[in-house]
Amino acid sequence: MIVIEYYLKESTILKKRYRVVEPLGKGGFGLTYKCMDLHRGEFAAIKEFFPRGSERGDALEVIPGSADLREAYYDKLSSFSEEFRIISTISDIHVVKVLDFFTENNTAYYVMEFISGMNLKDYGKHNGRLDQKRSFEIIDDILKGVASIHESGYIHGDLKPTNVMLTDDGKIKVMDFGAACLKDTFYSYEASKVVSMSYACPEKFFASSTPELSWDIYSVGGILYFLLSGIDPIPATDRVRGIPLELSMISRKPKAIIEKSMALVATRRFRDTAHFRKAINGRLFL
Ligand SMILES: Nc1ncnc2c1ncn2[C@@H]1O[C@H](COP(=O)(O)OP(=O)(O)O)[C@@H](O)[C@H]1O
Ligand SMILES: [Mg+2]
Repeated sequence: MIVIEYYLKESTILKKRYRVVEPLGKGGFGLTYKCMDLHRGEFAAIKEFFPRGSERGDALEVIPGSADLREAYYDKLSSFSEEFRIISTISDIHVVKVLDFFTENNTAYYVMEFISGMNLKDYGKHNGRLDQKRSFEIIDDILKGVASIHESGYIHGDLKPTNVMLTDDGKIKVMDFGAACLKDTFYSYEASKVVSMSYACPEKFFASSTPELSWDIYSVGGILYFLLSGIDPIPATDRVRGIPLELSMISRKPKAIIEKSMALVATRRFRDTAHFRKAINGRLFL
């Protein structure tokens, strides 16, 4: 159990319907809780919009950290709402279901199905390096989920091992979109904290860049690297300075796939998820 004063306390009721059970963690723009949905009698996971630097008032309200963050806060709060209304229309077994959305406490919340399982980071920590077959199966399922997101006109924008769950019965669920739309808000303030350094392509570090499908391709390549090596890839900011990715422990085929998906030049990456899947499934010569 994680205890940070800004988290909502256990037993807090949201929307007269969800009871907070415990915090699950925090990302760049939000806090995540395990909750009990009192209507359905099932667990749910709820993400609260709570960008870094925000504070919690006595009435549980979220307060933008500083005066100059105020405008950006309200601006992004409304695009957060809009994004998630649309994202909730994505229906794919490899993508976590978004069930509900509401505003309360001067902030917004979205409700997801609670996934019983482990995120890939924890799974990697427990199981060590995975073999090629298992890694490819996982990556193939992630790519199916990402394909649905792309087909709906979205970029995930923050794919990394903690944003992919492996359920107790072995299924892959991609979660936590929306970083793409929130990117520019806090970029100038806390870039290194919002961007998941190891999994972000070089273009993402330019504040002026707009999200592209190729960003997600790079990140999935990074996840493959993590599964096979057990370590996070070095950040693109180091790679552009000439420090190479350590690939000596990885065999020829996955190595070629990692090099292509994580190419520093976006146009050299797989052009889409289908192209990437072809390589994974051995139908593309690299
Ligand atoms: N729908 C969910 N079901 C179960 N666990 C979840 C769910 N969403 C997030 N989590 C867990 O909560 C943790 C914190 O999530 P998050 O706040 O997005 O931060 P991060 O992705 O940076 O770890 C995740 O690492 C994951 O283990
Ligand atoms: Mg997350």
